[in-house]
Amino acid sequence: MDIAAYLAARTKLVDRALERYLPKESVKPVTIHKAMRYSIFAGGKRLRPVLTLASAEACGGKVDTAMAAACAVECIHTYSLIHDDLPCMDDDDLRRGRPTSHKVFGEGVAVLAGDALLTVAFEILAKASPTKRYGTAAQISELAHAAGSRWLVGGQVADLEGEGRKLSGAELQYIHRCKTAALLTASIRLGAMSANATDAQLKALTTFGQSVGLAFQIIDDILDVTQSSEKLGKTAGKDVSSQKATYPSIYGMEKSRKEARRLTAAAHRSLGVFGGKGADLRALADFLLAREY
Ligand code: IPE
Ligand code: IPE
Ligand code: MG
Ligand code: MG
Ligand code: MG
Repeated sequence: MDIAAYLAARTKLVDRALERYLPKESVKPVTIHKAMRYSIFAGGKRLRPVLTLASAEACGGKVDTAMAAACAVECIHTYSLIHDDLPCMDDDDLRRGRPTSHKVFGEGVAVLAGDALLTVAFEILAKASPTKRYGTAAQISELAHAAGSRWLVGGQVADLEGEGRKLSGAELQYIHRCKTAALLTASIRLGAMSANATDAQLKALTTFGQSVGLAFQIIDDILDVTQSSEKLGKTAGKDVSSQKATYPSIYGMEKSRKEARRLTAAAHRSLGVFGGKGADLRALADFLLAREY
């Protein structure tokens, strides 16, 4: 499988759908719709929506049926990045290779662009078709739960409160599971739900998501140290300067890499029930581990 070509093709499909789902820039008030689109179409890797689509296919579903959920998770993710970059949070000037939203539109509009992307995510997901096992309410509540105060938002709170403190490995793992792995897992589960997955399929994909999700944030921590800002499209070296606890800061580089590899291997094993139908998800797990930005 040519993973680069696969990702490029999937990204195109997701972008086309986002283009349809988001209000046009000309819709009043234009500033907010410009700001929403500025961040969404800034060139993210689209890994969460791609995982949603691949998970749906592994369960025998179709890309089209999973597209609303795929776009919804990308809107949540992009909102979380806009807010993550605000001066009151990580205070970053560069994101997806561009000045951050608050640098371009000001803090007020950046906060509101995040709010609007968070809200439109649920408007989009509400358009997803219910399946026999998973009604619209179940799908919406899946996303709300992962994005809310127990998971993504909770992880961001713990991340802020952990700045400048020496955290235990367990505390750091909690932050990473909440702020990053939960939305990745929900992205994968929503794809499965759109395909009316069986209990066994959903359970296997939950384990897969939790493993690749934690590995994803470990790699993000590693790249912050090893890559340049140009390559990352965001300011490198920020975690050290902000005194964030990270996997490399607690365990060192080699142990962190080893843990990401171990989690990826566990992710592979969890896909056993899918046989050949798990090939795309396996390739994506490998890509997430080997990525350089
Ligand atoms: C960055 O996510 C934020 C984390 C949760 C680590 P990505 O690395 O997926 O960012 P984009 O979407 O490609 O910009
Ligand atoms: C971001 O984690 C997690 C969320 C936005 C929920 P980071 O703060 O490590 O992400 P980057 O490195 O700024 O992309
Ligand atoms: Mg952060
Ligand atoms: Mg950050
Ligand atoms: Mg980071």
